[in-house]
Amino acid sequence: MKEKIKEKFNNSGIKRLFKSLQLRIFFIICLVGIIPILLMKSSILENYEEQSVIQRGRMLQNQCSNLAFRMGSAVANLNLDISGFKTEMEQLANLYNGRLVVANRDFKIIEDTYGLDTGKLLVSEEVVQCFQGETSLSRGPGSRFVELAIPIEEAVTEEVVGALVVSSETANIMEGKEELGRQVLILQVGMVMAVLLAAFYASIILVRPFSKVTQSLEGISGGFLEDNLSILDYTETQVLSEAYNRMLGRMKVLDDSRQEFVSNVSHELKTPITSMKVLADSLLSQEDVPAELYKEFLQDITQEIERENKIINDLLALVKMDRKASDVNIRSVNINELIELILKRLRPIAAKRNIELVLDSYKPVIAEVDDTKLTLALSNLVENAIKYNNDGGWVHLSINTDHKYFYIKVEDNGIGIPKDDQEHIFERFFRVDKSHSREIGGTGLGLAIARNAVLMHHGVIKVFSEEGVGTTFTVRVPLTYTE
Ligand SMILES: Nc1ncnc2c1ncn2[C@@H]1O[C@H](COP(=O)(O)OP(=O)(O)OP(=O)(O)O)[C@@H](O)[C@H]1O
Ligand SMILES: [Mg+2]
Repeated sequence: MKEKIKEKFNNSGIKRLFKSLQLRIFFIICLVGIIPILLMKSSILENYEEQSVIQRGRMLQNQCSNLAFRMGSAVANLNLDISGFKTEMEQLANLYNGRLVVANRDFKIIEDTYGLDTGKLLVSEEVVQCFQGETSLSRGPGSRFVELAIPIEEAVTEEVVGALVVSSETANIMEGKEELGRQVLILQVGMVMAVLLAAFYASIILVRPFSKVTQSLEGISGGFLEDNLSILDYTETQVLSEAYNRMLGRMKVLDDSRQEFVSNVSHELKTPITSMKVLADSLLSQEDVPAELYKEFLQDITQEIERENKIINDLLALVKMDRKASDVNIRSVNINELIELILKRLRPIAAKRNIELVLDSYKPVIAEVDDTKLTLALSNLVENAIKYNNDGGWVHLSINTDHKYFYIKVEDNGIGIPKDDQEHIFERFFRVDKSHSREIGGTGLGLAIARNAVLMHHGVIKVFSEEGVGTTFTVRVPLTYTE
């Protein structure tokens, strides 16, 4: 059986649905995980380069500021004389694998460790800034150099008399960057693979409980009412399971009551037919049956036919009321007159057993009701009050109203209903004392019909009863009908 469910599940569109859900979860996790990993590389490398350049600049500045200061001290008449610093400049240039250039106040290069540009003019933004007393750090063309421009100030007047421009190759910084890039790439590949793996497992784990729920539901919709759902993997699925099991419980109760109803119906419908068959058979099996006996048996058969007819009519009435409210036929009705009519019809039956039937109409009532259905309900209440009464008893009815509802009370001093049975009397086919009720006659549908009719009008029906003392039914119905 389980294999069959599995096969059904695999073939169904639900499996495809879960596959696509799994895929979506997988992609979302991948997206969220991989994008930062990809962005990580460029930001790490940029940061590395920036920091390295700053560090290089600092180092250059430490050494060369001192040189510039000393050059400033050797100034005479605002004229730069760097003849005493040439060797030191060469040494520094070799140390930093770079070039040192000194320009005088006229922007003329008076010393170049490369020996290329001596005597030429050196005009750049950095040098101009230098003559305003500012030190500046910049990247040379193609980012292959770090360039530092330091002002040379006259020791006493602090007037800028020249500029010392130091440039240092950044080839080793770029090499370091490339190496770091390679390492980051390896790290990235590892991390992306880890994210893919995690996304794959997460998508399976996240979807699994729901596919379990659906599998079980699929199985149950195939008719396995005994199976309960038990998926405790997640709090959510646990709650879902519990809610589902409660619903299943209610469905089982409904299913049971439906089955009971069907078996009751068939039983009730069969009884009169069986009686008729027994009566007819006994007539057929005898010879020379006297005419009186024929008549008597046929009368009995007619009674059974009437009984069968009543059951069928009652069932049809119930089925009609089970349908939606579209079947309601609402109009303005004089309730006092409606009850008078019911009593007129039932009075002869009450009179037969010497039962007093009294109506107290406290107020005239006009209400929007379906008169056929309300008549059905009230007739049954009065019929019951007569049927389950003692000879010589009484039945009192009253009608009253306020601005919103009308109230009908049917009270008798009959046999009463035992406490335990009171909650069941509105159920279909329920009769308090089966044997006694059969003798009195009835199928147990009357109160079910009455209650449905009252509920259809958005009303309330209640019972108060004490065994051996009597029974009171109260009905409350709104004066105006709302859909
Ligand atoms: N006024 C009453 N006094 C005592 N018992 C009552 C009274 N009304 C109803 N009952 C009990 O409730 C049961 C259900 O009533 P209900 O009207 O549904 O069925 P019924 O009268 O047996 O059959 P039906 O009305 O379908 O002909 C009755 O069989 C009876 O036992
Ligand atoms: Mg009845």
